[in-house]
Amino acid sequence: MRYSKKSIEDVKVAGKRVLVRCDFNVPQDDSGAITADKRIVESLPTIQHLIQHHAKVILCSHLGRPKGDVNPKYSLAPIAERLAHLLGRPVTMAADVVGADARAKAAALKDGDVLLLENVRYHAEEEKNDADFAKALASLAELYVNDAFGTAHRAHASTAGVADYLPAVCGFLIQKEIRVMGRALDTPKRPFVAILGGAKVSDKIGVIENLLQKCDTIIIGGAMAYTFKKAAGRPIGISRCEQDKLDLAKDLMLKAMGLGVQFLMPGDHIVTDHFGPDAKPVTVQHIPDNMMGMDIGPKTADRYVYTIMKSGTVIWNGPMGVFEFPEFAEGTRAVARAMAKSDAISIVGGGDSAAAVEKFGYADRMDHVSTGGGASLEFLEGLDLPGIAALMDK
Ligand code: 3PG
Repeated sequence: MRYSKKSIEDVKVAGKRVLVRCDFNVPQDDSGAITADKRIVESLPTIQHLIQHHAKVILCSHLGRPKGDVNPKYSLAPIAERLAHLLGRPVTMAADVVGADARAKAAALKDGDVLLLENVRYHAEEEKNDADFAKALASLAELYVNDAFGTAHRAHASTAGVADYLPAVCGFLIQKEIRVMGRALDTPKRPFVAILGGAKVSDKIGVIENLLQKCDTIIIGGAMAYTFKKAAGRPIGISRCEQDKLDLAKDLMLKAMGLGVQFLMPGDHIVTDHFGPDAKPVTVQHIPDNMMGMDIGPKTADRYVYTIMKSGTVIWNGPMGVFEFPEFAEGTRAVARAMAKSDAISIVGGGDSAAAVEKFGYADRMDHVSTGGGASLEFLEGLDLPGIAALMDK
């Protein structure tokens, strides 16, 4: 296993002020209402453990990208409200992060109380991992818990820097994410199948290279499939394509062949003549010159489903098509359904594929849906995550 870090179960928390970094960066609608609260729900076990063990809980997070400005659009106040509802107890909101209000409210906490600081990205120092800002955050507490898996790939003050000034351990969410995904990568039940989709090959190079060493089969979908098809000499019409990645795509396919890894690409396609919700779907074997691919075709979906149903472990990152438009959602839905139905260990990397399984109602039937988008991708790439690396080893 890549990490063996101390957790909140390895330290005494009773009576202590504990600074907990969560990833409360949740989607909101135009009115600011939270549209998906998975990240808040997944932070509850750690917060509840700390409350039950009589800690004084000081939560912090970022929300969106306010870039160092205090902007009420990115206030964590709606998070405090949802969290209080989910915990069934009050959550005090601080008006700032390390200012007079936060310090006074942190000092006034009693055992079992919960305080939420304002958005750490109201300070430009956060993303710069500024030592003085990390010190100021650390001075609020006696112990640091990182449970923000979704932000563990960022070396920021509240995710990594603060660990220089406080004893630092992980919470239950980080522990679960690295246990489940780490086990799948290190000792997968075989056949081990990785399904990779999304728009760009360039986003997935590292993941493909790492998974080629570990998987039995790699399944390709999404717009990046057209770069691979073109590299293989197939017609792709006006589909999205990264011209400068054609050689790389060829290399990856050759590498797969050399390693004996089955590399599956779409054989038929759902295409259309323009991008938009009103686009009319047409199923084709070969993409005509004036058409663009929008989803994998039904024969490809059947082949992918068959492969998933026979697998022992499946990891999925990136949709098969433009699933936001119902006419082009079937490929993504078929993959999600097969993963939900199969007996394989099913792991969905965060981001768009997590949103897709939520949308199609299969999230509860997966073994694991990661709360990290970029973070789970970097974990699957085999990269070190600074927010985890900074924590104390067991
Ligand atoms: C995410 O949603 O991926 C994390 O919360 C990190 O957010 P960021 O990409 O703005 O750093």
